[in-house]
Amino acid sequence: MSIAVCPGSFDPVTYGHLDIISRGAKVFDKVIVAVLINRNKSNPVFTVEERLELLREVTKDMPNVEVDSFHGLLIDYMHTKGAKAIIKGLRAVSDFEYEMQMASINRKLDTRIETFFMMTNNQYSFLSSSIVKEVAKYGANVNDLVPPIVEKALRVKFKDMDLEWEP
Ligand code: PNS
Repeated sequence: MSIAVCPGSFDPVTYGHLDIISRGAKVFDKVIVAVLINRNKSNPVFTVEERLELLREVTKDMPNVEVDSFHGLLIDYMHTKGAKAIIKGLRAVSDFEYEMQMASINRKLDTRIETFFMMTNNQYSFLSSSIVKEVAKYGANVNDLVPPIVEKALRVKFKDMDLEWEP
């Protein structure tokens, strides 16, 4: 069985992520969407549990997609899951340098694991979780950018936070 991991922060999941996850799920037998538990990451809006819950909800109609979290090295997590492929979306040239660095270090850590890049659908080439948070923070409409359940969660979060969040 071919197992791929789609890793990320997913704070929160966007239509751009979903595009990559659903296309990956057509190519691999199983896709594990893995949320990094990163205690150093500055100021997340959603807890890991909340991010997992949103991801589970928006992928519930994709039978070969599983949602999980991990900490430490991605490669070590992949070993525990028997996964041989990492899937990532590439939006623009600006993503390239960082993604190449990550793919290279992961390949150095384990040459049996390959990173597969998919070009993000043009419609989402500008989209990131940070942009969504910035827009939602000021109450603008994000319904073209995230699923309705995420939009609702953002609205509740920013109401509770009273615009305190800064990236
Ligand atoms: O959505 P993001 O924040 O761009 O995702 C980054 C992620 C989670 C894919 C990356 O930070 C990662 O894989 N972190 C785990 C630690 C690791 O394995 N780093 C690479 C070797 S130093």
